Amino acid sequence: MPETINVTIDKLGAQGDGIGEHEGLPVYVPLALPGERVTVSITEKKRGGLYSQLVSIDQPSASRREPACKHFGSCGGCQLQHLNTDYYQQWIRDRAGLALSQHGFEDVTILKPFFAPVTSRRRAAFKVHKGGSGVILGFNAKNSHQIINLSECPVSSNSIMQIIPALKRVLDKILPTRSVATVHCTAASNGLDILVDSNLKLGLEARELLAEFADTHDIASLHWQQDGFMDPVAIRREPVMDFAGVKVPLPPASFIQVSAECESEMVKHVVEACKGYRRVADLFCGIGTFSFPLARDHQLLAVEGAQAAIQSLELARNASAAQGVRLKQIVTKHRDLFRRPLTAGELTGFEAVVIDPPRAGAQAQMTELAKSTVERVVSVSCNPNTFARDARILADGGYILDRVLPVDQFLWSSHLELVGVFTR
Ligand SMILES: C[S@@+](CC[C@H](N)C(=O)[O-])C[C@H]1O[C@@H](n2cnc3c(N)ncnc32)[C@H](O)[C@@H]1O
Repeated sequence: MPETINVTIDKLGAQGDGIGEHEGLPVYVPLALPGERVTVSITEKKRGGLYSQLVSIDQPSASRREPACKHFGSCGGCQLQHLNTDYYQQWIRDRAGLALSQHGFEDVTILKPFFAPVTSRRRAAFKVHKGGSGVILGFNAKNSHQIINLSECPVSSNSIMQIIPALKRVLDKILPTRSVATVHCTAASNGLDILVDSNLKLGLEARELLAEFADTHDIASLHWQQDGFMDPVAIRREPVMDFAGVKVPLPPASFIQVSAECESEMVKHVVEACKGYRRVADLFCGIGTFSFPLARDHQLLAVEGAQAAIQSLELARNASAAQGVRLKQIVTKHRDLFRRPLTAGELTGFEAVVIDPPRAGAQAQMTELAKSTVERVVSVSCNPNTFARDARILADGGYILDRVLPVDQFLWSSHLELVGVFTR
């Protein structure tokens, strides 16, 4: 029998769990809020803490509200729909402040956070399972491989949500019972890009069904990936993104900022922070979210590790004049910036650097930047902890962190983006 205890929740942790205390140990309680008195059953004791499941809320917080989605609580996609807006917005701000203070940044200006609107998420990877009673499709439950069969998702874009019933029907016809797949859906500027990742080899009939599905629903492109081989099943038009008026081809399932509104806000801050600098480097540039807006006014070096992404950027750059867009020079480099960061010497002559690494951050590259003569660094990050860790490297190298913009791109989740502006 699991142990059942009563706890008072003192605070919200970085993953969105309520945290209380029992016999000197922290107790982590998903879906509980500060000030609440709750009954929980202990599920696990690890790393000096007690992990638990909420049994009942005996004294609810005044900051609690009805979640926006019926799957909230079981679906692992969102952690914070039960907070009222004021409390949630304050938590986002505090989360940025806490990560910064853990690395010695106490008095940094944290700007008013920007929040993704509902239905603005234009990229999602859904898990699929075909069982005896058909296909289920959705996100995993928290800390579990169980899939929550989605019938609504208030954060995902309408174009993605509207395709789900038909997608499930076609996958139901194709997938054998007891099989799994992952479906990556991206709402590009000119339609949906879908990539199905499965270990099933496509037969002729399945291919025809998918092609018909793509035609009926005006899907821009549909790939089937098996054992790493990407099969272009239906390419009805090349999916593209529009960055500062430049049409950039989107490789299947590649990275884009998940909300167009958050992307615009981040681009605005990045461009503003680079004003007045002539030569700019955009590191971890992807397909050019920041590169093209920057290249309207600055000579640019764009560096990226994914070959398909940098090739898209190059194609778009080469076609931009014909599209009537005037850009300054863009030089590209395909390079692994973890293993071979741009050295301080290579950065000589660059006045500003924009850096937007994956969640792991960019310790090696920041170490080189800290030794460089670059005057302005704009650090864009999807992980406040690695952002703050890397910011410390820059600060120890003589940079001052002027301001930080929190961008809540994954609404109601514990993910948070930060844009930090540093000056030497
Ligand atoms: C957070 S995304 C940012 C992309 C782009 N700045 C944007 O906003 O669309 C991080 C990028 O880093 C790239 N990347 C990951 N590991 C890398 C590495 N070791 N070296 C260079 N680029 C890498 C990914 O391919 C991805 O494009």
